[in-house]
Amino acid sequence: MKTSKSENGYYGGLKQIAKVANSTLPLRRILSSIAKSTTKAMRANGCSIMLLNSQREYLTVAGAYGLSDSYLRKGPLLAHKSLPGILDGKVVAVTDASKNEQIQYPEVAKQEKIISILGAPLIQNEEVVGEIRVYTHEPRQYSQADKAFLLTVGNISATTMERAELYQMLSTNYKKPITERTELGQIPKLAPSSLRPSSFAHPSEQEFSKLLDFYRLEWLYEPRAFPLQQESNKVTEMFTPDFYLPELDLYVELTTLKQSLITEKNRKLRRLKELYPEINIKLLTKSDYLRLLAKYGYGPIGEAKVQGINQVLFSHSQIQHRVRTIAKHISRDYAGRHLVLVGILKGVICFMANLMQHISLPVTVEFMAISYYGDDTEQVVKITKDLDSSITGQDVLMIEDIVDTGMTLNFVLNHLSTHNPASLHVCTLLDKSVRRLVHVPLKYIGFEIPDEFVVGYGLDYQGKFRNLPFIGTLTPELLERELEEE
Ligand code: IMP
Repeated sequence: MKTSKSENGYYGGLKQIAKVANSTLPLRRILSSIAKSTTKAMRANGCSIMLLNSQREYLTVAGAYGLSDSYLRKGPLLAHKSLPGILDGKVVAVTDASKNEQIQYPEVAKQEKIISILGAPLIQNEEVVGEIRVYTHEPRQYSQADKAFLLTVGNISATTMERAELYQMLSTNYKKPITERTELGQIPKLAPSSLRPSSFAHPSEQEFSKLLDFYRLEWLYEPRAFPLQQESNKVTEMFTPDFYLPELDLYVELTTLKQSLITEKNRKLRRLKELYPEINIKLLTKSDYLRLLAKYGYGPIGEAKVQGINQVLFSHSQIQHRVRTIAKHISRDYAGRHLVLVGILKGVICFMANLMQHISLPVTVEFMAISYYGDDTEQVVKITKDLDSSITGQDVLMIEDIVDTGMTLNFVLNHLSTHNPASLHVCTLLDKSVRRLVHVPLKYIGFEIPDEFVVGYGLDYQGKFRNLPFIGTLTPELLERELEEE
């Protein structure tokens, strides 16, 4: 049987790709090399390999070939606005990019002379984690062989990334706290450090990125270059802000206190605001950015990190996102019914307040309070505040901050069931299932967490930290004290 010309090219391409994928080069270089071999094998003009961020909203370039810097820095690529079919695991072909509504930056694509695009998903453990796209400067119809080839390259790229992450985890594992080691996967991952920028233009940028990581705030480094001046169709001045923070929809340019530089940056910023009024951008000095973090509730002004907190596990926006999803499920499951939400004071206050605002059903709210007394050998739970109204015949949903051993919940559920509600279920924000002693059925779970003591968003350590807008772990010093007291 005759092999077609393209299939021969694909065989050669795959040989190259498999070889580089198996090398010890840094991940970025491997992915760029894969992009180059793919471009050549498909006789295309360029290729990019992109990764989804932890909240699955943005795509960032992890490796590319044959694409200009201004194309790569065209701005944050919203996953749902740019060929969304790929995220559903499909291979998507665009024969004419100028006429396709699923292209987020059609003007920039036109300047890059991109006409056709073929995109395939990168799949890890049955989940799409990114995409590979090839671009041509002429219209093209893609064959089944083209699609199968790109999908295969996508699979190799995904495996390569997984291997690099694993390698990185193994080589640093023993140094890391358990929260970064856990395989639960429920704690949103930051981009693997091998895919973070290999160098920052200035040390203050690296410092800022570390602070953002600490707070688990998503960031993209220099994702967009804004043309500021053009002369006879050539861009003569550009401005590339240092960071983009998707959760705040904010570009950030860091600056030192050198007056001459500030004046120049201010001029560029004014120009940028004139040309792109829809863009949210801030010029920040170090004290400014500490103030910015303070504004969003991340610690007092002048203090980079919150004292006593070792690591943020779930940022404010990650919690918000999850709470909204749970509320949607509750609203769907209890549609047409009236729901009584019962919370146990005080840990549940933030979660309850937040969750109830997103439930689109008529609800009433009840609170109970309990206290523990006794010594280490025998602790007794006592209800110090009971329900104000009857729940007999009602649909009751217990709202919990965290289920640890399950003893508290078991006690309260037994108590509530004596009132004969029509139904009784549990919704907990955090589930520390590894510590479970009593089986308790949990209908809705926000996040599963490892065996760590956590504070914030209502949860306390000796009455403190309840007002933090995120959930974090305690520093080792505080933790030791907590364990001694346990
Ligand atoms: P359980 O009875 O062991 O399931 O404990 C549940 C209660 O213990 C929660 O409602 C919290 O008040 C408290 N708790 C358990 N783990 C933590 C934690 O990591 N941080 C703060 N409070 C916790």
